[in-house]
Amino acid sequence: MNTTQTLPTTARRPDNGADCLQAALAGARELPLRARMAAFSGLLRDTVPERARLYRRTVVSATGREVRVQDDPARPPRTMIMFGSNNYLGLANHPYVRDAVRRAVDRWGVGVAGPPHLNGTLRLHRELEARLAALKRQEDAVVFPTGYGANLGLVSALVRRGDRVVHDEKHHASFIDGLRLAGAASRVFPHNDVAALGDLLDQPSTGDTLVGVEGVYSMDGDLAPLAAIATACRTAGALLVVDDAHGTGVLGPGGSGAAAHAGVEHLVDAIMGTFSKTFSVVGGFVAGDHALVDWLRFYARSYMFSASLPPTVIAAVLAGLDVLERDPEPLERLWANVACLRDRLATIGIDWKGESPICSIPVPSSVDVHAAAARFHEVGLFINAIVYPAVPTGQERFRISLNAEHTAADIDRLVGTLATILEG
Ligand SMILES: Cc1ncc(COP(=O)(O)O)c(C=O)c1O
Repeated sequence: MNTTQTLPTTARRPDNGADCLQAALAGARELPLRARMAAFSGLLRDTVPERARLYRRTVVSATGREVRVQDDPARPPRTMIMFGSNNYLGLANHPYVRDAVRRAVDRWGVGVAGPPHLNGTLRLHRELEARLAALKRQEDAVVFPTGYGANLGLVSALVRRGDRVVHDEKHHASFIDGLRLAGAASRVFPHNDVAALGDLLDQPSTGDTLVGVEGVYSMDGDLAPLAAIATACRTAGALLVVDDAHGTGVLGPGGSGAAAHAGVEHLVDAIMGTFSKTFSVVGGFVAGDHALVDWLRFYARSYMFSASLPPTVIAAVLAGLDVLERDPEPLERLWANVACLRDRLATIGIDWKGESPICSIPVPSSVDVHAAAARFHEVGLFINAIVYPAVPTGQERFRISLNAEHTAADIDRLVGTLATILEG
């Protein structure tokens, strides 16, 4: 089908190019499903060929400080410095973790072929849940197939119609999807605005109140003021749920997370985390008291009705926890790199607090974000350009993730290129 012919005028590609996708998608919204899908597909092909090259880049090596990227099947892959992955401690290809996974295959095979309440609980799953509970200083923990599923199951199991959910405006989509599933009323407070949260909590509610924040905000890497938020929740009798996807393994003593960093583990009702960042595999968990975790095991549908994680993944996370416990060096190197990037950015006039390994650089309107992303790519720096629909038009940014394996020379290269790009 020639998709452009099926589009209403408003759905056609505007000439300016930059905001075409957003405008065109808005116009296509009224079309029947098949035409809408075809229109979307056509738009992707017509309007973003150059940009699309920088999404779904084909990596042909293990993920580490460097990766090999295949731009063109006819040409050899190129080596790039990886500033786009959440492999904060370098566990994605760590020799100890690789060995543990190999041994797990020999001992346990590749999968369990079923959900946890039936045939899907190995001794490994129980061991991991106990280790995670200890890491988070909670009574118990439950492991989910993904971090997305952990948030979805957590929120939808805890709240019901008549309850209210109050969350930060920058909370992750998985949390929002959980509250959609629950059908509970939700109120949003401006990012990190504790006074606004307090005002919302002061308003009367007939049901329970659940407050959701991230320990480290995934897009910009800034921290939630957890101590003040926890106090506000206690005063109001609200439950506090912290998404510690990016704080686990990174913040707090021994990488125990954002709540420990803020000294409020005892004031948090549930801590959610993922295995897809520091542990560099896939999966998620929720830690809390026995009653909460027991409840989730039976009422979180994304746990109950989904197959258990395979032993290789569990073994990778257990081995990652061993590294965290036994070897402080990766965490020290990571924070040394955060300090290095903060200092180098200051030399080009960028004031970055460096609260986490995620550094978000807003792209000024004078800079074409797609051309700039292509420039990073050409010089061998793998970073993520965040554009619509991940952020509203006008709030484009470069998202840089540091890891323990980066060198000062890598960071110099990054900042040098950034300076050239921002100069225009
Ligand atoms: C803050 C936050 N919560 C939840 C998730 C979902 O986790 P996963 O990708 O492991 O399913 C992510 C992943 O992007 C995240 O950044």
